[in-house]
Amino acid sequence: MSQVPVSRTVSSSPPLHLVSDPPRRPPIRAPRWLGDVALGLAEARDLWAPKVHHDPSRRFSVRIAHTEEYDAWLIGWVPGQGISAHDHGNSAGAVVVTDGTLVEARWPAGSSVPEVRQLAAGEPPVVLDADQVHALANLHDAVATSVHVYSPPLTEMRWFEAEEDRLRLRREEPVRADGSHQRTVDALLRDARARFRRLLPVEARLAAADGALLVDIRPEANRRAEGSLPGAVVVERNELEWRLDPTSPDRLPEILDHDARIVLVCNEGYASSLAAGTLHDLGLMHATDLEGGFRAWKDAGLPVAGL
Ligand SMILES: [Fe+2]
Repeated sequence: MSQVPVSRTVSSSPPLHLVSDPPRRPPIRAPRWLGDVALGLAEARDLWAPKVHHDPSRRFSVRIAHTEEYDAWLIGWVPGQGISAHDHGNSAGAVVVTDGTLVEARWPAGSSVPEVRQLAAGEPPVVLDADQVHALANLHDAVATSVHVYSPPLTEMRWFEAEEDRLRLRREEPVRADGSHQRTVDALLRDARARFRRLLPVEARLAAADGALLVDIRPEANRRAEGSLPGAVVVERNELEWRLDPTSPDRLPEILDHDARIVLVCNEGYASSLAAGTLHDLGLMHATDLEGGFRAWKDAGLPVAGL
């Protein structure tokens, strides 16, 4: 066997790395450090006071600081507003309440039973590890404002649901710089349909015979081309909320109160699911939709008029 010479040549060229250097990542700050930042921001009220907003229609949030290492958000809560069980993806966090009082529910690892506490203005920050699930709500009579700091900067929220003995991950959502959560239409549809039991064509027909209101929300062109649903009330989608909200002066005469039983019908049962979810937002808890829409009704051999 020949000997392999050991080279002692000194090269002036850069050293060869078989494995490329890992990309530089900003350090992730510890929760306690984030708590100090949150407290400092909370005390620097002049920096963010002009941005404070409380919106009765949706929880208000705005990003007030953004560095490589962390970002900070201001959230305004009117009484009754809250955020359900979530964590912050890979980000650790800290929260300081600057005005009012929030209630926090926090789930210990492996438990479906939260620990609940009040977070009042003037109290020290609370901190969260990256995988800590919590929920916040303003259950008091006055508005509340809070400062939230995350490291690395918040890019994702993960939403959970408490089951009997554990928390179940429901969905993940990217977070945009304006504080809103990007949703896909699939996620919207899934969440809407989780709110009610959908009816098969034959069930919809039985429900209508039993007093439920069938509401055909298809565009006029589809009704003309494919026929209409006997006994259904026609309300095009752009009028739906005004015609079905029991408190609206433009409501249908059939809508007497929030107990109305409503079955929405569209072409194939997609738009009707989203619309039924909106009706639930209006307090119409007995609203649902026809699975498969008008076309499934027709395929099931149920009566069609107008052709
Ligand atoms: Fe949070």
